[in-house]
Amino acid sequence: MTSGPLLKITSIETLYYDRIYALYGLSLEVKEKEIFAVLGPNGAGKTTLLKTIAGLLKDQPKKGAIEFQGKHIHRLRPESISRLGIVYVPEDRGLFRELTVKENLDLGCWGRRDRGGIKDDFEFVLGLFPVLKVRSGQQAETLSGGEQQMLAMARSMLHRPKLLMLDEPSLGLAPLVAHTVYDAFSQISKAGATILLVEQNAKMALGVAAFAYIMESGRIVLEGTSRELTENEDVKELYLGVGGADISPKGWRLYRKRRTW
Ligand SMILES: Nc1ncnc2c1ncn2[C@@H]1O[C@H](COP(=O)(O)OP(=O)(O)O)[C@@H](O)[C@H]1O
Ligand SMILES: [Mg+2]
Repeated sequence: MTSGPLLKITSIETLYYDRIYALYGLSLEVKEKEIFAVLGPNGAGKTTLLKTIAGLLKDQPKKGAIEFQGKHIHRLRPESISRLGIVYVPEDRGLFRELTVKENLDLGCWGRRDRGGIKDDFEFVLGLFPVLKVRSGQQAETLSGGEQQMLAMARSMLHRPKLLMLDEPSLGLAPLVAHTVYDAFSQISKAGATILLVEQNAKMALGVAAFAYIMESGRIVLEGTSRELTENEDVKELYLGVGGADISPKGWRLYRKRRTW
């Protein structure tokens, strides 16, 4: 057992094509068995961050370090990173669209031989998302957006992740469906997985996360418990839309000048 954070990122810099900074000296920590959120506007670098952790970028960081359970992982291949228990659900959900729900789930168990464990895990994910049982024989591409997100989460759980990373899980979902997805996070977390989610939807994310980072232009500009951030005036105006904030580009610039970070 490690006593430090599960994931520790120290001052990483990720450049696209050796010149476009996407992550600019970014540091953050994720503690075991908690839900962490990274919030930020479009283009902040959230997806780049998750892909960097998963080892999926051609342009992996040249500076800084990423440690998982105390082990440096930023030079490992994506397969090795995934074998350590880091599972990434991309924004497009990464499903096999022409395969059925059941086939997608079976692929989630790839490499596992513990039949009893697999059976328990199927029970767990189908209990979380009963609709997947009903849709079992249906092709993934015929599912609604919410059902696809549920399938992607269920499949990722069958990998038994230590760290489950989700890119914009509520994007494009109707509020009620997004709530179902978010309710599942609490249960997944209780079952022992650590969750790192990135979201533009700050309200949803702060509702479920214990701790959150606010990211802008490749940097962390603010961090705190969800409660602290929910009460922060800048976060309220910029991310939670409280107080009649003007969200037009001009209004956004004005707030950027005024805010405290
Ligand atoms: N493959 C890429 N090549 C070059 N620039 C990229 C690439 N992917 C993203 N970027 C740039 O990096 C920045 C961060 O993008 P991204 O990580 O997708 O942000 P977010 O997920 O927060 O919207 C943006 O300015 C984007 O234009
Ligand atoms: Mg993104």
